[in-house]
Amino acid sequence: MSENIVIHDYEISRSKRNKVNGHESFVLWFTGLSGSGKSTIANKAEEELFYKGVSTYALDGDNIRSGINKGLGFTKEDRLENLRRIAEVSKLFVDAGIITIAAFVSPLISDRDQVKHIVGENDLIEIFVDTSLEECERRDVKGLYKKARAGEIKNFTGIDAPYEAPLNPEIHIETETTKVDEAVQHIIEYLEKTHRI
Ligand code: PPS
Repeated sequence: MSENIVIHDYEISRSKRNKVNGHESFVLWFTGLSGSGKSTIANKAEEELFYKGVSTYALDGDNIRSGINKGLGFTKEDRLENLRRIAEVSKLFVDAGIITIAAFVSPLISDRDQVKHIVGENDLIEIFVDTSLEECERRDVKGLYKKARAGEIKNFTGIDAPYEAPLNPEIHIETETTKVDEAVQHIIEYLEKTHRI
């Protein structure tokens, strides 16, 4: 910790907030290739939780890379810093009593390990949105794979930058055989079964 920084304990703690909200707070961390369906599933899962009366907030590329992480690119170093800051922000949201939905490519095991370390292993549920590169490239919703294949985008995950699949994700969604609504139901049921909500 930096010199002359002294942490002040506030009276309203995370556990008090959780008690008032009626649920625990933690991070649902979605990882997967670009175009795998992370944001679609994360968005629907948040909607489902929100209308159950759960306090939620979604962090994703749009609100992060155009704001707090504006200026960061897609080199190995920039992705690490992108994810480090997101992890720190997620930790604050968890402390604020909110179920935080984070949907980021987060391609490297070591980067995701850093995220878990910052947030805390027990406060993060890793969700692998498993869609093959072939399928993501076939969908190519944003036209980015085409550009990456043409060499117009460098360091594109799955093309000329690696994606390391989670070895033991807490939730594994195979999108090629699972509909969005089924995936969301699976997540909600898992949270209920494990008494997280
Ligand atoms: S990372 O790796 O976790 O830091 O990436 P993330 O912040 O999630 O940003 C991924 C979105 O940025 C777009 N994009 C790229 N993705 C991967 N590699 C490269 N080089 C790249 N350049 C731009 C892409 O649209 C990703 O959005 P999603 O929603 O994942 O498709």
